[in-house]
Amino acid sequence: MKGRALVTGGAGFIGSHVADHYLREGYEVTVVDDLSSGRLENVPQAAEFVQTDIGSEEARALLAETTFDILNHHAAQMDVRVSVEDPAFDARTNILGLVNLLEGARAGGTRRVVFASSGGVVYGESDELPHPEEARKLPVSPYGVSKLTSEFYLAAYAMLYDMECVSLRYANVYGPRQNPHGEAGVVAIFCSKIKAGEQITIYGDGEQTRDYVNVLDVARANMAATRWPVPPVQTIDSVAFNIGTETETSVNELAQTLADATGLDLDTSHAAARSGELQRSCVAVGRAAQELDWKPQIQLKDGLRQTYEWISENTA
Ligand SMILES: NC(=O)c1ccc[n+]([C@@H]2O[C@H](COP(=O)([O-])OP(=O)(O)OC[C@H]3O[C@@H](n4cnc5c(N)ncnc54)[C@H](O)[C@@H]3O)[C@@H](O)[C@H]2O)c1
Repeated sequence: MKGRALVTGGAGFIGSHVADHYLREGYEVTVVDDLSSGRLENVPQAAEFVQTDIGSEEARALLAETTFDILNHHAAQMDVRVSVEDPAFDARTNILGLVNLLEGARAGGTRRVVFASSGGVVYGESDELPHPEEARKLPVSPYGVSKLTSEFYLAAYAMLYDMECVSLRYANVYGPRQNPHGEAGVVAIFCSKIKAGEQITIYGDGEQTRDYVNVLDVARANMAATRWPVPPVQTIDSVAFNIGTETETSVNELAQTLADATGLDLDTSHAAARSGELQRSCVAVGRAAQELDWKPQIQLKDGLRQTYEWISENTA
């Protein structure tokens, strides 16, 4: 056994792939998830599963009474619109939930934390792309504020209690197991619409860009961060890594690449642009390449084909 890992949000999209990766690397894995958006079938068979809220006494006690080698924190309220409509709920889940876990970790002697932050929301809008880690931070949503605030909490705990905390600022993550319902994941939404033979809606002119990174590359980045010799905190950026591809892809290009990858003709329509959406987003990954020896490996076209195949096999 390499060590014991507690993965919060391990019934969700990214967390379940991270849990798989730890198991493959020989870790013993415990998953904490309240199944609010995650699914039991995503939790790896070999992992222990505890269904509870990250803000609960049970979650805190689990950490306080067990020494984990690593707390890998993926559970979150991750819907930007929900955070705008109910910022208190967002803060309760994302900020107080994290503090509850950190208090448990401190009591139980878990020193290392890997945290799922977001490169899509902490930087805000700017024309200077791709964003390096040191770029200006100006989140425009409560969700972005909660991610940035979490990074400051982690830095403070590292300084106060000699903990080793790393934040991974993800670009737009896509791949198998992403939930196509609701707001999240344009790739999952497009794939499930194609599978159902429905029309794809592109909002605005479709020229808005995102940086799409495959979930398997993201899981590898979590392992690299788990092994990283964390230095003393200088700034939040000194213990954070962007995880993306440094490539901007427009929604129109995404639809075209998906058509190429699947060999299908896509039926697309345009609708009015949605307010509050960033026009462009892309993160620089030189720091992760240098310090973590991590680079994205999966080409968008291959990743889209793999995601479409998974959605085809896993939807009725
Ligand atoms: N998907 C992306 O592109 C992306 C980008 C940047 C950051 N992130 C971050 O990565 C993490 C995982 O995102 P995802 O896309 O896998 O989302 P997801 O919704 O699939 O996973 C989140 C998991 O957390 C669980 N959860 C939510 N609230 C909880 C609570 N109070 N207690 C216990 N469990 C709770 C859910 O049931 C779910 O299984 C989140 O922290 C998210 O903010 C995701």
